This record gives sequence, structure tokens and C-alpha cells, in this order.
Amino acid sequence: MLAFLIQQDPSPYVPPESVDHWGQLTMLASNFGDMDNLFYFTYAVCIFFFVLITGILGYSVVKYRRRTYDQPAAANITHNTVLEVVWTVIPLIIVMVIFAWGWKGSLDMSYVPADARQYRALAKQWDWTFFYPNDPGTSTGELWLEVNKPAAFTLESIDVLHAFYMPSMRIKRDVVPGRYQTTWFMPTQLGDYHLFCAEYCGRDHSRMYSKVHVVSAEAYGTRPWDTFDLKDPPGNGAKIYNTTCKACHSLDGSIVVGPSFKGVWGKTEKVVARKPGGGWDPPTEVTVNLDYLKESLRDPDAKKVVGFQGQQMTVQGEAAINDQKVEWLAAFLEDLAKNPEKYAPKR
Ligand code: CUA
Repeated sequence: MLAFLIQQDPSPYVPPESVDHWGQLTMLASNFGDMDNLFYFTYAVCIFFFVLITGILGYSVVKYRRRTYDQPAAANITHNTVLEVVWTVIPLIIVMVIFAWGWKGSLDMSYVPADARQYRALAKQWDWTFFYPNDPGTSTGELWLEVNKPAAFTLESIDVLHAFYMPSMRIKRDVVPGRYQTTWFMPTQLGDYHLFCAEYCGRDHSRMYSKVHVVSAEAYGTRPWDTFDLKDPPGNGAKIYNTTCKACHSLDGSIVVGPSFKGVWGKTEKVVARKPGGGWDPPTEVTVNLDYLKESLRDPDAKKVVGFQGQQMTVQGEAAINDQKVEWLAAFLEDLAKNPEKYAPKR
């Protein structure tokens, strides 16, 4: 029974992260080990002063306790300049050491090395999507990095505040909607690591997690993330459909959440626009083409198909789907309209 309860994760990736030899931090896997030194220095200072202060306190309580009820006070000391200078200057020095150390660490984390690979991490409620340098591929919920190769990230959010937190890499950065944040590190150990969202961002915040694979140069070279074949636009579009649109838009005419994509390409749809103050303008007509697709991804309420005003589309903006991908998606929809049997679900 117990064996059943502690059964491992059925996925092939078992996170190897464990704690360091002090049992305080997750195992270090990046170049920012100096963070740990600073942490343990601060920790040691705290322990030293805790023992010193409580020790003197305890000793004094015993040594100078009142032994009889009428015992007169031994002395009435109101001031001791030497003592006051000592207990001001020593903590000041310690605090300045901690400050300088932390400042240096902060600078190290701000200066991205020139040979760093530039990744993009896109946060939304409630997952992370990664874009790879000079590669049309992406991945959601998983990230691949090459060991001993500096990795720099541009972080962005398309909805609310999130935070990019990889404990083993000693990296944490808020992801603020409406602005770009950057961070970098160099993974130094092969293995699988955790990326958490560290800012409460709504219902599924606790599930906003990604697995980070630090792999050899050889494994990285196989591009294990979702790749696209530049010669097969409809195929690429189908991949994007499967990861991004499928949950709400069927291919067989059934209504899941949004309109079905069956035969939608080139069709004339009755649409309504949301009024700035609320409510909807009277219906107009639109032809489903690339422009309409782009507009709808950027601003789903600009021309909403009549009958679906109540549904909210959550994957939107160029941030999630760039122009190239929208064109692939368009190629897929066009192909779907011409050859529906090609994409019919196999039974
Ligand atoms: Cu995203 Cu919490």
C-alpha cells in the first residue's frame, strides 16, 4: 500500500533536484553559486549573534539575579560610549559587507554575456511558452537548454503578473505585463529542473509549472522542442492548431467553445464588434481570411461571430502567435476547407 502511495511520477522525467549538504537550498545547477555563499554567510552571522546575545542574556539573568528581596542595586549605569560605538560599528561593517556582496551579485545577474543564447519566455494564465533562438520551434510546459551555455531570457506576460523562478539556477524575476524583463544564467549540470511561477496569478497558479531539461550539446542539436518544416505551411499550421486552438475549435463542425473551423476559410460570417462602453454594435459581415485571422488573434472582440459573444478567447496577440505562425495557421485552414477528409479524426 505504501509502495503504491510513494509510486514515482509516471512521466519518464523524474526531477533529480535534491537539497544541498546543509539541507537548506536545492542543489545548485548554475553559475550563480555565489548566492549560496552569501546566503550561508548571512545565516552564519545570524546564528553567531543569536548564540552570543542569548548567551550573554542567559548568563546575566543568572549571575546578576536579585538574591534577597531587599538587595540594593549594584550600580546604575546610564551610558557607555565605548560599548555604543562597538555595537554600532561592528553591525554596520557586517551589513555593508552583505550589501556589497549582494550588489555585486545583482550586477553579475544583470550583465548578460555576449555569447548567451537569447530565449523568450512567454507567461500567460497558466503556462509558459518558450521560443528558441533562430528557430521557428517553440515549446510549452517544457524547456531545453544546453549545458555550460549561457541562456538569456526575455520575459513577457500577456495577462497578469507572474514570476519566473528556477530555484536550482538561483534565478527569480517578476514578469510584468506591458514590459520586458530580462534574466540569464548558465546551467552547469545535466538534468531536469523545475521552473515555477512564483507570483499568485489566479486559479491555476500552482499548476503554472515547466520542466527544464539541461542537455548535452548533441541532444540540444536534435531540437527536441516542437519544430516546423518550412516547406510544409499547412502541416505547421496543423501543429499550431493542435497545441493552441484545438481545445475550443473543432474540425468536424461540432461546437466546443468557439466556432468550428470546418470549412470556415473563405466563408462569410456574421460578426459584431464590442462597443467601447460595453454591449455590441449591430451585426456586419466579414470574409474569413488572413486579415480577419490576424485581427481576431490580436483583438478577439473586434469582430466576433454572432452567437459567441459570451466566449472569451484566451490565446491572443502576436506575443503568443507571431506573424509566421498566423500564416501557417491560415495555410492550414485553407487546406482544411479544400481537403476536409485529410484532417478528419481517425476512428
Ligand atoms: Cu503565473 Cu502564478
